[in-house]
Amino acid sequence: MSNTLQEALPITVRNVTKTYGSVYALNDVSLDVKSGEFLTLLGPSGSGKTTLLMVLAGFTRPDKGSLKFGDDEVIRKPPHLRDVGMTFQNYALFPHMTVAGNVGYPLKLRGASKAEMAERVEKALEMVQLGGFGDRGIEQLSGGQKQRVALARSIVFEPRILLMDEPLSALDKKLRDRMQIELRHLHEQLGMTTVYVTHDQREALTMSDRIAVVNHGRIMQLATPQELYEQPANRFVADFIGDSTFLPVTQEGDRLIAAGITLKTTRKAPDADKLSLMLRPERVTVMEGDTGDANVFDATVTELVYQGESFLLYAKLTDGTEVAVRGAIRDDTFRTLPAPGAAVKLGITPADTVIIEDGDA
Ligand SMILES: Nc1ncnc2c1ncn2[C@@H]1O[C@H](COP(=O)(O)OP(=O)(O)O)[C@@H](O)[C@H]1O
Ligand SMILES: [Mg+2]
Repeated sequence: MSNTLQEALPITVRNVTKTYGSVYALNDVSLDVKSGEFLTLLGPSGSGKTTLLMVLAGFTRPDKGSLKFGDDEVIRKPPHLRDVGMTFQNYALFPHMTVAGNVGYPLKLRGASKAEMAERVEKALEMVQLGGFGDRGIEQLSGGQKQRVALARSIVFEPRILLMDEPLSALDKKLRDRMQIELRHLHEQLGMTTVYVTHDQREALTMSDRIAVVNHGRIMQLATPQELYEQPANRFVADFIGDSTFLPVTQEGDRLIAAGITLKTTRKAPDADKLSLMLRPERVTVMEGDTGDANVFDATVTELVYQGESFLLYAKLTDGTEVAVRGAIRDDTFRTLPAPGAAVKLGITPADTVIIEDGDA
């Protein structure tokens, strides 16, 4: 082992399928992770995220497909020869060993000398802000500290690829928010190619260079956080990331019509049979006076909810669809909002008029 940082490696997944009986845990998955990238697999429980991570780590052999780290085909390589560090949701630490014993374990497996181990363990612990904690017992640590120890163990041998499976899900929200930022900084410092798994869309948006949305063993969309949120490929992705209301869109020649109005949009509608207009609550506004070039829907307020930093208003369009509107509350703006029963005009700008394919194809 050298002391210089190794170069990060790109990961190439091609046509990987893994079945358990009749269940397709992975269904013909292809994916390119760029060298040094922080890529997140985001999807509901049972969608195949862990299975894909296990294939990358070498603990699961797929039925078919290929996997390259850089130019090396690794699909037949056992885990310990793959140069991959991994952390799990439940930490998987050895409770009877000290912090240093746990962190040094991968080095021991790789035959490092005592002196080298001591030096690298302390360096890894400093990286996760646990410098000097080596002699402590695992059971003396808090949940957040245990997660940091697990992280130190996964980076101590300076792997070129780091895999993390829901590493923060056991922590409370405040700690999780802080650890998300810390993990991101650590990634910037170390620069290793990282594949991160979560079912939490906000965590994915916060941390990732790109996100692969997974459902039923397939990748539904691979894009940057902003692209995913602003232009989801289909209804599943639009529904899974952020809140939205969907209005059916019909096409008459060049015109796209939703709830009786012809839509003005700066975006291209997808070429699909079934289309929907995606309305994000914070992009819809209650309009007064001049509505400019907005698309405007007549509606009747059904609910108005105070939520501290923002309000949530529900209103029914003339076609019966209920639309959610979210807005910031400042000073006494909440007092001036329309009450249930009031007629309102709901507007969206042409740039926020996003038409998506309805369905999860
Ligand atoms: N060892 C296994 N034996 C049988 N079925 C499995 C096994 N591992 C995963 N599965 C099934 O494969 C699918 C994907 O699981 P998993 O990759 O764990 O999803 P996720 O991590 O997204 O929650 C699920 O339907 C799950 O029940
Ligand atoms: Mg999982």
